[in-house]
Amino acid sequence: MPEPDPFVPSSKSGQRQPQNPIPGGRAQPDAARPAHAVSGTLVGVAPENIPITAISFRRLPEGLPPLHLLVVDDDAPLRKACSEIAAGMGFQTLAAGSVQEALEKMKQQRVDLLLLDLKLPGGGGLKLLNEVRTLYPSTGVVVMTAFATVSSAVEAMRTGANDYLTKPFALEELTAVLEESSRRVHFDLESRRLRERLRTARGMGDLIGTSPGMEKVYRILSKVAFSSHPVLILGESGTGKELVARSIHSNGPNAAKPFIAVDCSSLVPTLIESELFGHVKGAFTGANRSKEGLLSEANGGTVLLDEIGELPMDMQAKLLRALQEKEVRPVGATRAVPISARVLAATNRDLTAMVAQGLFRKDLYFRLNVVNLRIPPLRERREDIALLAEFFLEQIQRQTGRSYTFSEDAMRLIMEYDWPGNVRELENAVERICAMSSGPVLHMVDLPTQLQDFRAHRREADLAAAAYEASAELQADADSSIVSIAEMERKAILGTIRQLSGDKLMAAKLLGIGKTTLYRKLKEYGLSETESEEGGAIED
Ligand SMILES: Nc1ncnc2c1ncn2[C@@H]1O[C@H](COP(=O)(O)OP(=O)(O)OP(=O)(O)O)[C@@H](O)[C@H]1O
Ligand SMILES: [Mg+2]
Repeated sequence: MPEPDPFVPSSKSGQRQPQNPIPGGRAQPDAARPAHAVSGTLVGVAPENIPITAISFRRLPEGLPPLHLLVVDDDAPLRKACSEIAAGMGFQTLAAGSVQEALEKMKQQRVDLLLLDLKLPGGGGLKLLNEVRTLYPSTGVVVMTAFATVSSAVEAMRTGANDYLTKPFALEELTAVLEESSRRVHFDLESRRLRERLRTARGMGDLIGTSPGMEKVYRILSKVAFSSHPVLILGESGTGKELVARSIHSNGPNAAKPFIAVDCSSLVPTLIESELFGHVKGAFTGANRSKEGLLSEANGGTVLLDEIGELPMDMQAKLLRALQEKEVRPVGATRAVPISARVLAATNRDLTAMVAQGLFRKDLYFRLNVVNLRIPPLRERREDIALLAEFFLEQIQRQTGRSYTFSEDAMRLIMEYDWPGNVRELENAVERICAMSSGPVLHMVDLPTQLQDFRAHRREADLAAAAYEASAELQADADSSIVSIAEMERKAILGTIRQLSGDKLMAAKLLGIGKTTLYRKLKEYGLSETESEEGGAIED
């Protein structure tokens, strides 16, 4: 599934129509040229001989580091016009007339944004776009294409261009696209910087995990932290939904403001409204004084609506209205109060299924699901289990001042277990093994009972599978040819020992013979004490 991109530029819609064209050398709609168009023949000068630099452009926001823009077009007048307009907006501009020249320039100088003509000699713009995507994946690309070849723009977008302009284009179109692209570049730069700043050897910020699943969480998290869009955090119980929500808040611009988590499942239905929206004095029996609701109490901070799937239907409608209007009406009040909190929601329920069953409002679902962030369960990111276990162990060591290490068997079981309760269950298991341990080495027997049960069940299942395979092998032999009983017995004994990785005691048990008999048989087969005929180790 493609990663959700929270900030798709509106100009991608392809609806842009050239009204005030900047003609390129190839397309010159002279008759349609409006007063403020930049001429391809009068380079750098508007029709009334106004220098381009004197035209007032939309300027890039102040206070942000300047972006480097490279204009690549073999049409020199257009190249120059675009460069001058971009410089007027506040870009540091560079220009190139060919693929080769562009690559040279990019080698010498960091380029944040590329304005690229698709129809270039010597391989064309698509080839350059491909190279840029590989060599400089963080560079933004806007492609320019002739009106007649819009399909090539579509192909360019598929190859990774961020936006496109159809030639001839108007000055406002160019500046609008450049402005939007620069916003995206700045945004990407900031989110990358955040990720780098929070990056640790075993995760990001307070979050532990280096699995691809968690890396995806970090990428989305670092993007949404700067915005104020709602984010729907999905994940099984104990996967870290609240921790992720806190991390979004604490890395965003309003980190100093409050973070309030509301558990929608634990609120008494009749009180949910007053909890979230507040109430005035006398609104209902027991309302002895006015109370501010959590949504306004957060005061520009973040409200996490946890277990949102449990919110009753009537409250869903009220919440939707509050989110849309950005105001709430406290219970019993006549006037609404504005709310400025960012809303995050979390659930371990399948909200899409709930929408389909009519249990959750579709419109609220869409409102909350502007971006969704799914935290994978632990069993889908097993590489994080040991990291997390060691992390929780370190925490306990710090708290207790005692030092512990996992024994090999304990760690093996921890790694193999399925963790239906996810990180929370793992955290509790580590706490329990430390509490139960009498020494510094933590043994499997001190892990919680569900892990012991899991081990016992798995061992039973392994044994059953081993016995089944051994008997299937015998059956196959019996089917294919007539074999002597002695030969069948030999195969049964050796096959079972092999299936059990050399556990002779268990093999004897499974075969229903004594250990001494088994050893005698092995001796009869002329096998050494440690090696089977098949070459598998069968030592005690
Ligand atoms: N990636 C992680 N790194 C470190 N600690 C984690 C991580 N994920 C979860 N935890 C810890 O596991 C515990 C459970 O996390 P959290 O409460 O955020 O889960 P949740 O998904 O909200 O659970 P629930 O569905 O039960 O509400 C917390 O103590 C949290 O600090
Ligand atoms: Mg939670």
